[in-house]
Amino acid sequence: MPPEKNHPRDGGRKDGGVSRRRFFQTVGVTAAGTAAELQQANADAAVRDDGPKILGPNPVRTRLNVNGRPTEFVAEPATTLLEALRERCDVTGPKEVCDRAACGGCTVLVDGEPIASCMMLALDATDRPITTVEGIGSVENPDPLQTAMAEFDAMQCGFCTPGVVTATRALLDRNPKPSLPEIRSALAGNLCRCGTYPNIFNAVLVASGQPPVDEPTDRGANGGERA
Ligand code: FES
Repeated sequence: MPPEKNHPRDGGRKDGGVSRRRFFQTVGVTAAGTAAELQQANADAAVRDDGPKILGPNPVRTRLNVNGRPTEFVAEPATTLLEALRERCDVTGPKEVCDRAACGGCTVLVDGEPIASCMMLALDATDRPITTVEGIGSVENPDPLQTAMAEFDAMQCGFCTPGVVTATRALLDRNPKPSLPEIRSALAGNLCRCGTYPNIFNAVLVASGQPPVDEPTDRGANGGERA
């Protein structure tokens, strides 16, 4: 009698291996466990349940202290700080542009140091003070740096501005009167696609109590004339 062959649809193997049916039974149990885990996590997220639905395994409870306001939520462990800030903490100043720590659009301060929040896990920022541009000043109560940025038209599209302001605030906190080379160096990681660098540098000089070094430039819709 020829040896019994395992058929692809056979419910049981005779050679001690894992049968197809057994495999799917195991996967089903695992999936059911993961689903229950996610369901529980989404329920736990009552702490903050208006964020994106959790899809991945092993969700974790995360606690962030953003601009002095604590926020707790449950999220996938791979959630970046940038995603957490924008999707869980009602903070939209930091922008996702390059998503690889190359442009500075997502700059925030963690422990007072500027970092690219797109490259940091939210978990790694747990319980550490985080400052975004919203925590530096407001329309009603702007930081002197923000006032100078507006005065010098130090932006065009404005997409890089939150990162520039945040990185510059960190610079002025450790060096209240930076030289132009020091300003250039501190902002080397903050790219402005509109090219308003001369105005940004002048704004930083004036905000730190120094005279501007260049005539402000304005290549905006008014044809280059300052209003
Ligand atoms: S989006 Fe993070 S550095 Fe560009």
